[in-house]
Amino acid sequence: MGILSTLNLWRKKRSSIILGQRGMVLDNRVLARGHKTLVHQFMREDVDKWMAWPMHQDPLYASSYPRTMNRFERDDWFQDRSSRNDYMMFAAEDFQGNLIGLITLRNIERNRTHAVLGITIRPEILGSGFGTDCLWIFLYYYFETLHFDALILDVAAYNYRAQRVYEKCGFVRTGEHWGHYDDYSVFYNDYYKNIRNYFRQRGAWIETLYYDMILRRYDYLHLRKQGYDPTQIRTQK
Ligand SMILES: CC(C)(COP(=O)(O)OP(=O)(O)OC[C@H]1O[C@@H](n2cnc3c(N)ncnc32)[C@H](O)[C@@H]1OP(=O)(O)O)[C@@H](O)C(=O)NCCC(=O)NCCS
Repeated sequence: MGILSTLNLWRKKRSSIILGQRGMVLDNRVLARGHKTLVHQFMREDVDKWMAWPMHQDPLYASSYPRTMNRFERDDWFQDRSSRNDYMMFAAEDFQGNLIGLITLRNIERNRTHAVLGITIRPEILGSGFGTDCLWIFLYYYFETLHFDALILDVAAYNYRAQRVYEKCGFVRTGEHWGHYDDYSVFYNDYYKNIRNYFRQRGAWIETLYYDMILRRYDYLHLRKQGYDPTQIRTQK
């Protein structure tokens, strides 16, 4: 067989893998699919897509977004994250293949009792329903495929939007704690005036209040069984 016909055969085979019967994208990497997003394992190419996100202008959320890295730093960063055995990263994409979010699991317990969730959505599409959609389908993968017992997180008390998403997905508050905050202007900058009560000074440090939340497997499965779907609930504040 000539090299051209071998190439054509490979192309045909490849397109049958990528395009399913109804022309939908079928991809082995996809772990879960929602109404407008899909979640797959985070790969090296996702670091570059992530770096191309615009900067978040709000100082309250800037730390959730990537610092600039050159190609070698990106390689190292990816290598470091992928080789940790108590850490996992996932990419959320829209159906056009754009990276719209990152989901992380850290402090993963070896016996799969629990892990700590992190989630970040592209800054220009915040509040458009992508966070709820990809978190809800990620929970399916987390509880039904990975079989964890519980997922925990902490969320800044001033971060009402994130709290709303977590509550919609079934998380409940279990406590609160204070954590480090980097901006010393919180007590005189007017930007913070409505949320100043969530900050305090401890010696030389500024701290902000966090709420601890948990979603237990039992409660998640109960919601699913009832046919609950948080993506269908929009209050549009
Ligand atoms: C938190 C985050 C992941 C949520 O994703 P998202 O796509 O923005 O969220 P959604 O659009 O799905 O839902 C936002 C919900 O919050 C609500 N909301 C927005 N601003 C709000 C406010 N100030 N007070 C109360 N609710 C608010 C919206 O109305 C919506 O609820 P609804 O669907 O019932 O109408 C995303 O905003 C993000 O990445 N933020 C920056 C990083 C961050 O905060 N990460 C979490 C750290 S714990």
